[in-house]
Amino acid sequence: MRTETGQVYKLKDYKPTDFVVERIDLTFELDPKETTVVSRVILHRREGVAADAPLVFDGDELTLDSLQIDGNDHDPSLYDATPDSLTIRGLPESGPFEVTVNTTLSPATNTKLMGLYRTNGVYCTQCEAEGFRRITYFYDRPDVLAVYTVTIIAGKEDAKHLLSNGNFLGGGNYDEGRHFAAWFDPHPKPSYLFALVGGDLGLVEDSFTTMSGKEVALKIYVEHGKEGRAGYAMDALKRSMKWDEEMFGREYDLDIFQIVAVSDFNMGAMENKGLNVFNDKYVLADPETATDADYANIEAIIAHEYFHNWTGNRITCRDWFQLCLKEGLTVYRDHAFSADQRSASVKRIAEIRLLKAHQFPEDAGPLAHPVRPESYKEINNFYTATVYEKGSEVVRMIRTILGAEDFRKGMDLYFERHDGDAATIEDFLACFAEASGRDLKQFALWYSQAGTPSVSVSTDWNEASKTFKVTLEQTLAPTPGQSRKALMHIPLAYGLILPDGTEFDGRLDTDDAENGVMHLTKRKQTFSFSNVPGRPVLSINRGFSAPVNIAMEQSSADLAHIARHDGDGVSRWQALNEQAMRHLVAVSKLARDGRTLPPARELADILVATGADDSLEPAFRAQALALPAESDIAREIGSNIDPEAIHTAREAVLSEVANAGLDVFARLADSAPKGAYSPDAADAGQRALAGVALAYASLAEGQPARAKTAYDSSDNMTVMSQALQVLVHQFPGSSEAEEALAGFKTRFADDPLVLDKWYSIQAMTPGAPTRERVEELLESDDFDRSNPNRMRALIGAFSAGNPTGFNAADGAGYRLLAAEVVDIDKRNPQLAARLLTAMRSWRSLEAGRQELARQALVSIREAGELSPDVGDIVDRMLA
Ligand code: PHE
Ligand code: ZN
Repeated sequence: MRTETGQVYKLKDYKPTDFVVERIDLTFELDPKETTVVSRVILHRREGVAADAPLVFDGDELTLDSLQIDGNDHDPSLYDATPDSLTIRGLPESGPFEVTVNTTLSPATNTKLMGLYRTNGVYCTQCEAEGFRRITYFYDRPDVLAVYTVTIIAGKEDAKHLLSNGNFLGGGNYDEGRHFAAWFDPHPKPSYLFALVGGDLGLVEDSFTTMSGKEVALKIYVEHGKEGRAGYAMDALKRSMKWDEEMFGREYDLDIFQIVAVSDFNMGAMENKGLNVFNDKYVLADPETATDADYANIEAIIAHEYFHNWTGNRITCRDWFQLCLKEGLTVYRDHAFSADQRSASVKRIAEIRLLKAHQFPEDAGPLAHPVRPESYKEINNFYTATVYEKGSEVVRMIRTILGAEDFRKGMDLYFERHDGDAATIEDFLACFAEASGRDLKQFALWYSQAGTPSVSVSTDWNEASKTFKVTLEQTLAPTPGQSRKALMHIPLAYGLILPDGTEFDGRLDTDDAENGVMHLTKRKQTFSFSNVPGRPVLSINRGFSAPVNIAMEQSSADLAHIARHDGDGVSRWQALNEQAMRHLVAVSKLARDGRTLPPARELADILVATGADDSLEPAFRAQALALPAESDIAREIGSNIDPEAIHTAREAVLSEVANAGLDVFARLADSAPKGAYSPDAADAGQRALAGVALAYASLAEGQPARAKTAYDSSDNMTVMSQALQVLVHQFPGSSEAEEALAGFKTRFADDPLVLDKWYSIQAMTPGAPTRERVEELLESDDFDRSNPNRMRALIGAFSAGNPTGFNAADGAGYRLLAAEVVDIDKRNPQLAARLLTAMRSWRSLEAGRQELARQALVSIREAGELSPDVGDIVDRMLA
């Protein structure tokens, strides 16, 4: 059995480097198997560092070709090179010196997609978090900022475009059939923001004039033939640039901004200075191949990477423990952007759903960690929902506590004070404390304490005195490594809805609440209101002001009152969702015990009425009609989960809603906008509503005719994939479903991104038999196991998006994932580790499945050589 290995890195051990880097000059001669890299680094010994202290650079799977100091070959007895480090002695005591490091790389055989690799014939780099050390020996850490000059030499045929960070210096012919390009980035940056791209690409160009009148060239590089699909990304980029100027006063700072779309990428995209590299999934879109969700993701991710230029690049992180400093903040910024571009309440509802679906389970299981972790073994495993999404919620709470004006003042101060710094969460918080005069010490616990707090709420109405009291009590359960927790500062937005549906505008008696927010800072607190004209209904945690679980005994009449009258759309959805969730949890438990299920008449009526209400935004109605997912219900139940019972119960409720509203759904199923496709939020909302309605109507009708017609007549991918999903999920094995699948496959045979949808839809077909289908698909000749998008589309969708298929009672789903993870790990550890996290909630399963899941995890652990990535995840999951 594998024993736990590997170094543990700790926040408290932070220490600056012994040498200070002034600048770095890189020269690449590109070749698929033998790329040479010459790195010239100018450094000096830091004040106070011992004269004999060696210079120790990081490496990863490197071999050193030669080493020079100030241009002379260094005495071999004065340095040691291993694959993962270079230690140099005999260096000048003071004054700057130049170290020249020569390495040779094989991008074509780099399957980890970290460092310099090849994707579809294109040279491309990925350096965050620790990929630069796979290119050359260097101080590969975010607090070492340097000015980069990069020269790239390549065959003209092999790589027509040669790109790197910063501004273009010049280029030209080099020798026989080869050319070169040189780039200079004046902004000091850490190595993780370095990027290089070489390839023969299609180019889409535009420009943007900044607020001070500077013209910036905008270039998006895609595969030849896909130029027509880059228009939406370009538009989103220009809107992002404008928005950051208007909302945060942030202007772009180079002559050129470039984006390259590649087909093999471990993540969504990367914010390299002036040269963002994107997973092509988040750049390419046209109506025939991309869904509304794809468009929305492109808009959000283009914005996210662009916003990193200030939050991440100009101000970077001191160390990787501070990852949320750039990620949580930048997610917050992209959320605010999307909310402004679309319907703010619908956007917020989607965020809440996502947070609860991904972050809450992470925080409740063996992989729970603070927004700012205090130790890690493998940093790649900390690009998590907690760092990103909860990190964003924490920033959002700062704004809730401070108010818009002081929040902006704090951001301004942060940009002014820390521009050019590698900063910490303490630096960040200090800006808001200073700008607002508030004490944020207790609030800072959000960064250090893991777990989702619970707030129990009770209310007391005194008719005689017309007073209303709200008592809040907080608890925070233990998480790995944190058995005892301190009390948190939880800002809860609220409203009191009076019997006539209007909102009580009186203030709280106490002053620990303001602007419609109760500040829960003690274990238990009571807030009281007087002169309330009639018994109010409490709407609490409005807009999900704090990422907590609320426990409150609220009658369904009260929930219905909120759902009908609350002025806040998010609150109305929360109340509806709560009602649906309660019912689903109750019937799931009954189903688990083999009991008969009570009718869902009341719930069905409310949902149908909401769906039918044309005065409401279509996108909102679509959200209201979408019942909590099976995984949401599982999370809410929390333990002894039987996914089969949850499925049965939820299907029963779906049928009842469908039957109760067939007329409405039949009408709405046909209501998608006709005519030219527009990806805008209004049209997308209508299509979303029509899509949910199609699923309900088909369910009530019990036959595929309606979905088949929708499929056959669809003229955009949104409607097409909705219809395909209904055919495949509701009528698996039917001739309609199989014909549609075959037609889709043929039509999009040359379009990997679209085929990914074909794989995902099949992988998510409920029920145990899907596993065999997944195995067949994996074995088919044209299945590309080296492409991360494809693996996520099949294995990821099956394990994370198909509760009954993956959790089949015989454990075959777990064994399938375990075998794939071990296999993928040999090529691409990051991808393997990420896919494995689908099992993070295994301990909440019922005993039989839990044991099978445990065995699968143990089989991974015993599989032999595991990467640090998979080793770390499996160790923590079994701990
Ligand atoms: N920093 C990227 C982002 O969030 C994500 C990423 C991390 C990409 C690690 C690649 C590798 O914008
Ligand atoms: Zn990011």
